[in-house]
Amino acid sequence: MMFISEILIYIAVVFGCAQRCNGYTRNEIEKTYPDLGPEIVLFPDENNSPIIGYMKMDNNSRLFGFYEKNIEEEVKFEYFSRDFPNGVPIEHKTDLGKYVNISKPTKCITHGWMSGGRMDSSVRLRDGFLYRHDANILVMDWSAISGNPFYPIPMMATPDVGRHYGTYLNYLVDELGLNPDGIHLVGHSLGAHVSGFAGREVKNGKVGRITGLDPALPGFDMGINPSGTLNQNDAIFVDIIHTCAGFLGYKTPLGHVDIYPNGGGPPQPGCNVLEFIEACSHGRSWKIFASSLFNNKPYIATKCPSFDDLDKKKCSGKQIPVGDATSSDTRGIYYSQVSEADLMYNATNKN
Ligand SMILES: *[C@@H]1O[C@H](CO)[C@@H](O)[C@H](O)[C@H]1NC(C)=O
Ligand SMILES: *[C@@H]1O[C@H](CO)[C@@H](O)[C@H](O)[C@H]1NC(C)=O
Ligand SMILES: *[C@@H]1O[C@H](CO)[C@@H](O)[C@H](O)[C@H]1NC(C)=O
Repeated sequence: MMFISEILIYIAVVFGCAQRCNGYTRNEIEKTYPDLGPEIVLFPDENNSPIIGYMKMDNNSRLFGFYEKNIEEEVKFEYFSRDFPNGVPIEHKTDLGKYVNISKPTKCITHGWMSGGRMDSSVRLRDGFLYRHDANILVMDWSAISGNPFYPIPMMATPDVGRHYGTYLNYLVDELGLNPDGIHLVGHSLGAHVSGFAGREVKNGKVGRITGLDPALPGFDMGINPSGTLNQNDAIFVDIIHTCAGFLGYKTPLGHVDIYPNGGGPPQPGCNVLEFIEACSHGRSWKIFASSLFNNKPYIATKCPSFDDLDKKKCSGKQIPVGDATSSDTRGIYYSQVSEADLMYNATNKN
């Protein structure tokens, strides 16, 4: 497993930058959590308590089980629509034919590391789509793999998971006659790359849109993942929201349009709890997208001529809506200001 040591080197770089960029030192975090090594990331769980993710594998990794490639059993699908707001399990591809209405647009959601199809990011995105669109909604849950606390395992599994996801998309297109233009894939973190790998499996036409929500950076920029990254060729329109740029997420543009709320990097506004700066900022991308589905007044982004202007927050070009309403002819890099108070997690707290 050549890649393990390479990831370690990479992670040292990430936290090296974290020490310069965040205003907090790693030492301060390690005082709060004395067991933390430099290869550990803390994620808030459902109760906002820290759970540990390891950026490398060690001899204890096997306690958590290696990735077994039982994709068929490990990846689960659920269908939602306004007629089925509580969801129905899709045990087999043929079940799609019982529920999918090919006259409607189709929204496909997936999650990242240490998350799942019934966890916050997927649930909020799904509820947002149900609120905003009369659509077929498919949630792909690969938590049996992505829940592994050793990051390299789910990271290296993303191509296989994406290919499997793609067979479901092909079933919709080839067997049910769905127009691939009407398919919109949305994925957070590792799930952004999984969505790209799924989109490129569709051969009979092209998926209409893929939204990458802070696509995962560690490992992907080193070329060790044979499928590369989510990119512009994976769909007719690829839009990216960057919120932990250069740390857990990409800073490099990956889409036709790349939006950088508050400049794109951590800490995002309100992500000030020391141990969660990165994870909180990384999650801000899906919160902004989900909020865009609930909010009737769109967040606005302004076009930047260059990264230099973006970093200086000095952008004054064309203005566009952020999130679901970003139109498919938008191109370039954009700066946006979205405060924590602007976020909306459901339709009840309307602005
Ligand atoms: C892991 O196991 C190998 C072989 O059992 C051993 O040589 C190595 O020192 C171990 N590494 C750590 C960090 O414990
Ligand atoms: C499918 O969706 C179309 C457009 O929303 C609607 O007119 C039609 O009644 C739906 N078909 C079924 C079987 O629900
Ligand atoms: C809606 O969101 C607010 C906070 O944004 C929360 O307090 C409330 O419980 C949520 N309501 C539902 C139905 O989820």
